[in-house]
Amino acid sequence: MIRNVCVAVGFVSMMALVSVTPAAQSPGNPYPVGKAQALAPTGSTARGAQLVALGGCNDCHTPKLRDGALDTARLLSGHPQDGPMPPQVVGGASTNMLLTAWRGPWGVSLARNITPDRETGIGSWTLADFKKTIRTGVNPKGEVLMPPMPILMYQNLPDSDLDAIWNYLRSLKPVHNQVGRSTASKTVASR
Ligand code: HEC
Repeated sequence: MIRNVCVAVGFVSMMALVSVTPAAQSPGNPYPVGKAQALAPTGSTARGAQLVALGGCNDCHTPKLRDGALDTARLLSGHPQDGPMPPQVVGGASTNMLLTAWRGPWGVSLARNITPDRETGIGSWTLADFKKTIRTGVNPKGEVLMPPMPILMYQNLPDSDLDAIWNYLRSLKPVHNQVGRSTASKTVASR
């Protein structure tokens, strides 16, 4: 009897395992099969990649291909120099089809180039510059970062998470792309 119960429990837990890790998605579901990653070591580049994925940085900072997939050749290089601008919508906010430029009550903001390109990206920043920018919402030039950059959602991250994001950003291919300046940028004293 006990043995039968054990066999039954074993069978049920095997079924549970099988059901959370399907071998393939249902027909018509475009997503790849999801699988649990191990937590990468604190502060590491690999942890930074996990945080950048979770933080959705690519949603705004990476141009998209026609099918909406990320243009991985231009990863995190911001709004393309010659990219389309968001349309004017009366009574609403809007974005362009690359999701890299935004128009709202604050003006127009362009997702910046956060690759290590020295001239057009953040290649000349130090780790301290990066941390100060995320913690205060003001970059080294004294520009207040406008929506939709989610400063409020990132500014209290542990130091080790900011280290990890920084390490990951430094590991990217530098992309030369002069984003231009958001019409909205206000400048304040950088503290
Ligand atoms: C919802 C869109 C959005 C998301 C998500 C987003 N950003 Fe941004 N980010 C922006 C925009 C737009 C700007 C430019 C704001 C401006 O011009 O005032 C910006 C600016 C920045 C800047 C300032 C760069 C400079 O040259 O001043 C940094 C650094 C940055 N983002 C890092 C990140 C990181 C790291 C993540 C993910 C953890 C992230 N962003 C997620 C939209 C976004």
